[in-house]
Amino acid sequence: MTIELLRFTTAGSVDDGKSTLIGRMLYDTKSLFEDQIESVEKTSQARGDEYVDLALYTDGLRAEREQKITIDVAYRYFATPKRKFIIADTPGHIQYTRNMVTGASSAELAIIMIDARKGMLTQSRRHGFIASLLQIPHVVVAVNKMDLVDYDEQTYRDIVDDFRAFASKLEVPSITYFPISALAGDNVVHKSDNMPWYDGTPLLHHLETVNVGASRNLIDFRYPVQYVLRPNQNFRGYAGQIASGRIAPGEEIVAFPSGLTSKVKEVVTMGGNLDEAVMGDSVVLTLEDEIDISRGDMLVRKGNLPRKNNQIDATICWMSETPFDPKANYQLMHNTRLVRAMVTKLNYKIDVDTMKREEAEGLQLNEIGRVQLTTTKPLFFDTYNKNRTTGSFILIDSGTNNTVAAGMIRGVARDVDDLLDVTKDEEAARRQRSANVMWEAGALSQGERESLNGHEAAVLWFTGLSGSGKSTVAKILERKLFEMSVQTMFLDGDNLRHGLNGDLGFSAEDRAENIRRVSEVAALGLSHGNIVLASFISPYARDRAFARSIVPDGRFVEIYAKCDLDVLKERDPKGLYAKALSGEIPNFTGISAPYESPQNPDVVIETGSGDPEDLANQILKYLIAKGIINE
Ligand code: ADX
Repeated sequence: MTIELLRFTTAGSVDDGKSTLIGRMLYDTKSLFEDQIESVEKTSQARGDEYVDLALYTDGLRAEREQKITIDVAYRYFATPKRKFIIADTPGHIQYTRNMVTGASSAELAIIMIDARKGMLTQSRRHGFIASLLQIPHVVVAVNKMDLVDYDEQTYRDIVDDFRAFASKLEVPSITYFPISALAGDNVVHKSDNMPWYDGTPLLHHLETVNVGASRNLIDFRYPVQYVLRPNQNFRGYAGQIASGRIAPGEEIVAFPSGLTSKVKEVVTMGGNLDEAVMGDSVVLTLEDEIDISRGDMLVRKGNLPRKNNQIDATICWMSETPFDPKANYQLMHNTRLVRAMVTKLNYKIDVDTMKREEAEGLQLNEIGRVQLTTTKPLFFDTYNKNRTTGSFILIDSGTNNTVAAGMIRGVARDVDDLLDVTKDEEAARRQRSANVMWEAGALSQGERESLNGHEAAVLWFTGLSGSGKSTVAKILERKLFEMSVQTMFLDGDNLRHGLNGDLGFSAEDRAENIRRVSEVAALGLSHGNIVLASFISPYARDRAFARSIVPDGRFVEIYAKCDLDVLKERDPKGLYAKALSGEIPNFTGISAPYESPQNPDVVIETGSGDPEDLANQILKYLIAKGIINE
């Protein structure tokens, strides 16, 4: 399938040339009307400009628009024979974060403008960070105003190196760099003769050919109902835009929050009925049954349900001049649904210069923080990394009705222990990669495998002292899952220490390395659609936090096998406690090496007293309640 449409957004500091770049693209692709071109040429001439001021196209159009409507984002369209483009144009220079967040929520590519004379600024870092936070799959760094640095190669290379060094800490899968002059037209639409040292394509060529389909979620059907249409007694339809996935007549759906089910009768559009509609299509659905559905409800496919909870863990970007007040009540708009919300905890804010987490009392304009929210009614959501539409929301000040924050859902709120939240730096350090290797995306996505398997993938992390029964319960559970046709994978400490981790001992460093390797294997297993049962003492909370950090939110289940040391010394199935007590085994967990008990495990199994069979059932129930597997 060729993707015909690319949505992108631009981000730049004041005077970086954002408007000129958009103007240049419109002008060189002949997307402007004669009268617009004339009027701008005249204005430029009258001002004695050397070049036609292309920004006037953009700003002129914007001024027109601003008189009529007051929305945050204006969408600008243009097309080339290869592709159509929608630019989310976010005016206003000071509130750049706010604008970028609003404009970028559906963008598949972000152009970050850097002035060649100024190089990387705090704002460039901020834009990169936000692009990463919003999981925009493609970032373009346009080093602009090359004409003003005499088209100097070294200036360009230095900026590229600076950005690369910074971006190694970000999660942006693809970054492409271009030396351009939007004003003079170098390397925007046409390749420039002024920079013979640059052997790449012009920017537009990249926009026309960049592969954007891969980031679309065509698996999980999510349809927030925007309007209920009832023009006469015989017709009832539900209008909205498909947030993700696809739908066809005859398919079974569930309406939330009611939980009522029906089948899709027709997929109606202005141009006639469709056999199938996909993510991004605006349609009207009619159903076989008359069930009660109103604006704000969400239709999903039976067997592929969103999560349901009123305790939400999220990253928010504060967008109001009035600072965030943890005690205030806000309205939360999630797709087409409005509920009341309270921020119950502000975990930290992020300093975008250093990417470090900082303690925070509140948030100011443009600041980004991690929060725990409670809503008056449950939300039906997906995590942002799974679905950028059903995983995002905005907060509205109930008093002024202003939008004050944009949020990305990370999962269900848990008592996030701030200190144990593995930082990006630390994660990067533990996830080093060799030089010149790239991530080779698999042919099949995790979502595709999950659809085939009929259950979600997850890592069940069993932690506890040696001999506490982790593996015993894990094995019983694995058999039960197998009988339910669930795809599983079993990783066990003793087994992995044969071979893969055979070079490691039991010092704190070796255990950290042991868990690091195992975590990576577990994450790979998960990305292949498995429920991975990982059974390791993993005595250090930090190592477990790392294991959690590399798995998508909501997919890491920490299971604490809790058992008294005295019982273990008594049981001593492998005779290791006796040896450790006599000093024969050094660094033995619980005897001569520490075990840091989990502070907030997802499940606690009492292996000292419980029957292993019951304990396995306890975990099974948890997995069903979380929607990871179906009953
Ligand atoms: S971990 O601490 O690095 O997570 P892991 O789960 O892989 O440990 O391996 C633990 C197993 O190694 C134990 O079940 C036990 O059989 C064996 N073992 C050997 N020496 C030690 C030791 N010093 N401390 C704990 N377990 C040990």
